[in-house]
Amino acid sequence: MSRSIRLAVIPGDGIGPEVVAQGLKVLGSVLPSDVKLETREYDLGARRWHATGETLTGVELDSLKQHDAILLGAVGDPSVPSGVLERGLLLKLRFAFDHYVNLRPAKLFPNTATPLAGRPDIDFVVIREGTEGPYVGNGGTMRTGTPHEVATEVSVNTALGVERVVRDAYERARSRPRRKLTLVHKNNVLVHAGHLWKNIFDRVGQEYPEVTTDYLHVDAATIFFVTDPGRFDVIVTDNLFGDILTDLAAAVTGGIGLAASGNINPDGTFPSMFEPVHGSAPDIAGTGKADPTATVLSVALLLRHLGFEAEAARVETAVAEDVTARDGSFRTTDQIGDALVSRVLAGSV
Ligand code: NAI
Ligand code: MG
Repeated sequence: MSRSIRLAVIPGDGIGPEVVAQGLKVLGSVLPSDVKLETREYDLGARRWHATGETLTGVELDSLKQHDAILLGAVGDPSVPSGVLERGLLLKLRFAFDHYVNLRPAKLFPNTATPLAGRPDIDFVVIREGTEGPYVGNGGTMRTGTPHEVATEVSVNTALGVERVVRDAYERARSRPRRKLTLVHKNNVLVHAGHLWKNIFDRVGQEYPEVTTDYLHVDAATIFFVTDPGRFDVIVTDNLFGDILTDLAAAVTGGIGLAASGNINPDGTFPSMFEPVHGSAPDIAGTGKADPTATVLSVALLLRHLGFEAEAARVETAVAEDVTARDGSFRTTDQIGDALVSRVLAGSV
């Protein structure tokens, strides 16, 4: 049987193309020989917007839809007004492709610097709702620019939207050794949305008696991310809380060069999109200083999503070995990519 992966690639801006090149190199090295990898590149991001004024056309959206998955580097540049690419490209893709599970693993590898004292064991995954909450663009301004300006940004939470992401979180918690799921919200103050989340969390939980559950307010969660991160296994939370918590998670696990993410449509109706958490890092673009590891770990998430579990595990093992062996000496983006490919190939025998 011959298999194939149709992969859409959005290298983007700044270090995006540099790290994506390494991700593709590792992907090519780990796939079984009978799997055909077909890639198609899309020119999207700041450069494209400056050139044409376009962020993402309907034709491109339709074309992206024809793929099994999307690999994205990073888009953005300080020269593009804030919000243009976030709303016109990244959020547009998440909403159009119904990426309701935003998956962000947080793992502290041996030998990785963490600002936390005592090197606690950190190995959890945050599942951030990706299609609702305050990010839907439900708001507006009136009396704009006057002292009486009014601005609203309404958080939208639907029973369907909450239940599907909560269910996904229980499934992922059940498949992990510790089987623990923590809901993070702020239901003492945001009582309307908070109670919807908590009620659905409790109801769905009855179907998963083997999963231990916990609830934390988001402000308390930020404390425990620093003082006791070992208590977490799987976390499910709303779009905005998840955005903030996952940056903190990246910081305590050794930084943005290692943080991977998946924007997942678990139903398989649309392609899921995998990307490093970091941005286009214009300050180091073109210098060879970008660490491609976050992109390579995103490739592992992509492999797992497409059913290549053994290959995903091999990539993750290669990364864990490489990170553990680091001695602080400088390696270029390309050298790190080559080292990961060598370890992946060594892991295959
Ligand atoms: P950033 O993540 O691009 O950079 C923050 C700091 O981390 C910089 O000092 C950078 O050099 C460093 N850094 C980031 N990735 C690294 C890597 N792989 N290896 C080593 N160092 C790394 O965030 P910043 O500076 O706030 O944003 C820069 C641009 O990226 C902006 O235009 C922003 O809108 C965009 N952005 C895009 C995202 C995306 O495409 N999903 C996400 C975040 C920001
Ligand atoms: Mg963010």
